[in-house]
Amino acid sequence: MMTAPDLTTPRERIRSGRMRRQAERWSWMFMRFSGAILILLIFTHLFVNLITGDGVSQIDFAFVAGKWADWWWQWADFLMLVLAMLHGGNGMRLLINDYAHRKTTRTVLMGVLGVAVAVVIVLGSLVIWTFDPCPVDADPSLLPSFCATVAA
Ligand code: HEM
Repeated sequence: MMTAPDLTTPRERIRSGRMRRQAERWSWMFMRFSGAILILLIFTHLFVNLITGDGVSQIDFAFVAGKWADWWWQWADFLMLVLAMLHGGNGMRLLINDYAHRKTTRTVLMGVLGVAVAVVIVLGSLVIWTFDPCPVDADPSLLPSFCATVAA
């Protein structure tokens, strides 16, 4: 009986395509898990912003500031941001692999995709984690009520 070759070094595993197949299996699992978590996060997000309270008309600076004063919403939005970008980015990677046949086209599109995903994650995270709910020179009527206690 023929036995499979013993591919021990990373170089041999890469050459055999085994590592790529393993990576694609992890990518497949990531898409299933992140998809399920994203459904929960996105529907909670839409429900809280559009249905509870005064609905979409309640969304202003104070509403966003009020949410991000709570670490729970900061983490929920951060998780939604990262998972949505990685899920969408990985999905686009598969589309590029399927439809871009020329090597240069694939390399350029993959580069643009990687940069776009990284920029959105970095900028979105900066917004969430450096957000100032009580900026000093702002009109007090636009700020959340807890800023009055902070200023006093
Ligand atoms: C009409 C529908 C939507 C409205 C009115 C809306 C509104 C908002 C508002 C007011 C915020 C600021 C913070 C917060 O409320 O949590 C926000 C943040 C966010 N939303 Fe939505 N949203 C909508 C749909 C979506 C959908 C469908 C997604 C996901 C695919 C999404 C992803 C996000 C993310 C990731 C953030 C955090 C942004 C950041 O990092 O700065 N939103 N949204």
